[in-house]
Amino acid sequence: KAGEREERVRPASLAEVAQAIATCRDCPIAECGTRAVPGEGTPDAPDFSGLMIVGEQPGDQEDLAGRPFVGPAGQLLDDHLARIGIERGAAYLTNAVKHFKFTWKGKHRLHQSPGAKEIDTCRWWFDAERAIVQPRIVLALGASAARAMLGRTVSVTRERGRPVMLDDGSELWLTVHPSYLLRLDGDARQAQTALFAADLAAVKGRLA
Ligand code: URA
Repeated sequence: KAGEREERVRPASLAEVAQAIATCRDCPIAECGTRAVPGEGTPDAPDFSGLMIVGEQPGDQEDLAGRPFVGPAGQLLDDHLARIGIERGAAYLTNAVKHFKFTWKGKHRLHQSPGAKEIDTCRWWFDAERAIVQPRIVLALGASAARAMLGRTVSVTRERGRPVMLDDGSELWLTVHPSYLLRLDGDARQAQTALFAADLAAVKGRLA
């Protein structure tokens, strides 16, 4: 199977990535959701900021819409981006894993985190995407995105708040996933939201 992949031609455009992931069956999640969700953004547009934002995987709403970050976590992310003056449309948004992994609970589809193997398998597409987008700065939201970027298990809380310099000259910033903030209440939510906002502000500072 690995041999087959090496022979596969890497997609040369985002449209080709989107087309290829739609029929990818390299891991079991591919059978799970409605569709593969490609990244969104126009890195060749004059107003592209150079920022790539990476999430974990499409959620229920993203799976239905076929677009990343359109559900509750996406709305929270949009609010934070707007507050610090980063246009969502000037960034490239994507996910470490392109399909929605879930289990049924009654009538609801319950999110399940992708495993390391699934992230590592989908990394082939993610790397292709990143090679096309060529971001100056990557913001990884949560541990799955961090793994897709670094190829290892990452403690986001230990490594956040400072850039990780990558071999291609770009910088990686790590922060928590917005859905983590949505699961918190009260003081914890307030404290973690402030840390998240500070991480985004640091990224904004580097984009200037
Ligand atoms: N969470 C993610 O990680 N990605 C999305 O696209 C939506 C929610």
